[in-house]
Amino acid sequence: LPERATRVRNLIVDVPDFPSPGILFKDITPLLADAQGLADVIEAFTRLALADGRGGTGGIDVVAGMEARGFLLGTPVAHALGLGFLPLRKAGKLPPPTERVSYDLEYGSAAIELRSGTLTPGARVLIIDDVLATGGTAAAAAQLVEQCGGVVAGLAFLLELETLHGRDRLARYNVDTLLRVGASSGD
Ligand code: PRP
Ligand code: MG
Repeated sequence: LPERATRVRNLIVDVPDFPSPGILFKDITPLLADAQGLADVIEAFTRLALADGRGGTGGIDVVAGMEARGFLLGTPVAHALGLGFLPLRKAGKLPPPTERVSYDLEYGSAAIELRSGTLTPGARVLIIDDVLATGGTAAAAAQLVEQCGGVVAGLAFLLELETLHGRDRLARYNVDTLLRVGASSGD
């Protein structure tokens, strides 16, 4: 519904020059704090998952999300679908054994990990995160799922920053975004 989308959009606040100069941070804190906004977003993700028409959970066996903000959205979506959740954690947080994927950031590098044995081989995984920016985090998440023997059923994001072309790095996958901001939209 367009009015709900507008409401959700207005609950995501632009913060210029955070966490570093030149970066426009998209803060979802006000959205999370808003009961209706949170409910609308979780429902929209859940509908998207079910829309693919492969039965009760949309052909998905488990939901995964990236630390930290992917946890906040992915876990309630998993629960709404009656599925479990796999946390893709920043390196060093999980006890061994883990599977790990390293990826490049604008400056330096990062890594994410999944606890070995938590992903059933062949499971179809829906990956959820708040923002698709350069796509580096999402590409690493998809790679980690595959490295653990999972199948990436799709990736879903609350907000796509179109000018950064993160979608291009995810061309092999089904990618859905609830909201998009581009150069021409003024926000
Ligand atoms: C942010 C955001 C996405 C990622 C998108 O996470 O939540 O996960 O960046 O950027 P990319 O598409 O360029 O990879 P970040 O690790 O900054 O913070 P978080 O721990 O609060 O989620
Ligand atoms: Mg994140």
